[in-house]
Amino acid sequence: MTLSQVLNRIDGDLDAATDRLFDLLRIPSISTDPAYNDDCVKTAEWIAKDLTGIGFDASVRTTPGHPMVVAHGGSDGPHVLFYGHYDVQPVDPLNLWNRDPFDPVIEDTPNGKVIRARGSSDDKGQLMTFIEACRAIVAETGALPCKITIFLEGEEESGSPSLVPFLQENAKELSADIALICDTGLFDYDTPAITTMLRGMTGQEVTIHGPDMDLHSGRYGGPAINPIRVLSKILGNLHDDNGRITVPDFYDGVPELTDELRAQWDGLGFDGDAFLASVGLSVPAGEQDRTILEQAWSRPTAEVNGITGGYTGDGFKTVLPAQATAKVSFRLVGEQDPHKIQENFQNWVRAQIPADCRVEFHDHGAGPASVMATTNPAFEQARLALSDEWPNPAAFIGAGGSIPVAGYFKTILDMDSMLVGFALDDDAIHSPNEKYDLRSFHKGIRSWARILDAMT
Ligand code: BES
Ligand code: ZN
Repeated sequence: MTLSQVLNRIDGDLDAATDRLFDLLRIPSISTDPAYNDDCVKTAEWIAKDLTGIGFDASVRTTPGHPMVVAHGGSDGPHVLFYGHYDVQPVDPLNLWNRDPFDPVIEDTPNGKVIRARGSSDDKGQLMTFIEACRAIVAETGALPCKITIFLEGEEESGSPSLVPFLQENAKELSADIALICDTGLFDYDTPAITTMLRGMTGQEVTIHGPDMDLHSGRYGGPAINPIRVLSKILGNLHDDNGRITVPDFYDGVPELTDELRAQWDGLGFDGDAFLASVGLSVPAGEQDRTILEQAWSRPTAEVNGITGGYTGDGFKTVLPAQATAKVSFRLVGEQDPHKIQENFQNWVRAQIPADCRVEFHDHGAGPASVMATTNPAFEQARLALSDEWPNPAAFIGAGGSIPVAGYFKTILDMDSMLVGFALDDDAIHSPNEKYDLRSFHKGIRSWARILDAMT
C-alpha cells in the first residue's frame, strides 16, 4: 500500500468526510429512548449504504432491540474486525446545549476547530475515522489492504441487551484475528493512546414504595414514612468517610496494581490536579488512600446517576411522595463479578428497608472489566504507527469507562481487542455540547490508515 498517497488523499478529502459525518450526526439515534427506534434503524441503514458504496458487502441485521450493521470486505492478509457504536446518549438537559444537538456545525475554539453535535465524539465521529480510512485506501489502491469485517452496534449506550445473543448466533461470521475498537481517547492533546484496560459496569434502578398515594405533607407529614428520606439515607450509606464502598464483599476480586503497571502509569506524567481543575474541581472524592489515576482507572466505584421522586417541577409543592427512585451504577475492575455485586447490593438495600416500605429493582446490564492482551503483535505495530502520526509517542493507558463488547469478544469469540481512539477529556461525551476536534477526526483517519498499513 502506498501510504503517503493514501494520507494525501485523506487530507484532500477531509471536507467531504466531514460532510458525510454531518449527515450521520443529523440522525438522532438515542438508543435508550424508544421514541428514537426508527432513527436507530435509519442510522444503521445510512452506514450500511455508505459501506456498500466503498465496496463492502454490508447488511443491517435485525435484533430484538436495535439493529447491528455487519459488513465484509477485502480478501487477503490478516482478518481484522472493526467495532464501533452508532447509538448516542440522550441529550438532556437540552436547555444547557448552545444549539440543536442534532444540527452539527464546525466551531472555532481557542484549541482549534471542533465538530459540535451529540455523538460527534461518542461514537459516530470515531467510527467514521475507520470507515474514512478504508474509503481512502480503496480509492487510492483499488482494494482494502486485508480482510476487514465492520461490526457496529446500536445499543452500546443502553446496556447492549442484544449483543451477547448476536455474538453467539454469528460467532463464525464475526470471528477474526483481532478486533479493533474505536471508542476511547487520546492520553492528552498530543499523545495518542492504546487503552489496555476498561472498567466493567453494572446498573440498577432502585424504587422505594411507601404510602399508597402521594400525600399532603402537612396532613400526613410526621406519621407517614417518606420514601425519599428512606432512599437518600440508603444512598448516603453507599460510601464510608474514606470513600470506600460499603456493600458487603464489594472488593472481592479487586487486584492491586502490578509494579510494572504502576511504573508505566507513573511514566505518563498524568496531572491529576489539572484533570480535576478542567471540570472545576480540586479535591479527589474517591478512595482517599488511592491516587487520582487509580481512582479513575483501576478502582471500582458506585455512583448515583439520577434520583427522582416527589415534585421536581417549577415552583413548590408540599407533597409527601408515594415512591422514590435512584439509578445506581457500579464500575468494576479485575475479577469483580457483576452478578454477585447486583445480588449483594440488593440484599444490602433490602436490609435497610423499614416497615411499611417495599423495594423494587430493575436491572440495567452487567459486564465485567477487561484487560487487553498487549503481547499481541498488533499492539506494537499500532504503537509505532500512532507515534508516526502524532507529536508524541503513543502511550498504553487505562480507562474508567466501559465498552462491554471488548470482554465478550474474548469470552465468546476468543478474540483479542485493541482499543485505539481519538477523543479528548474535554469532549463532553454524555454531556451537553459534546464535540470532537476536527484534528481528532482528521488525524484519526490518518492513524487508521497507518495502523492498517503497519498490520498488513
Ligand atoms: N465511549 C464510552 C466508553 C469510554 C468512556 C471509554 C471514556 C473510555 C473513556 C462508551 O460509549 C460508553 O459510554 N459506555 C458506557 C457503557 C455502559 C452503558 C455499559 C459507559 O461507560 O457508561
Ligand atoms: Zn462510546
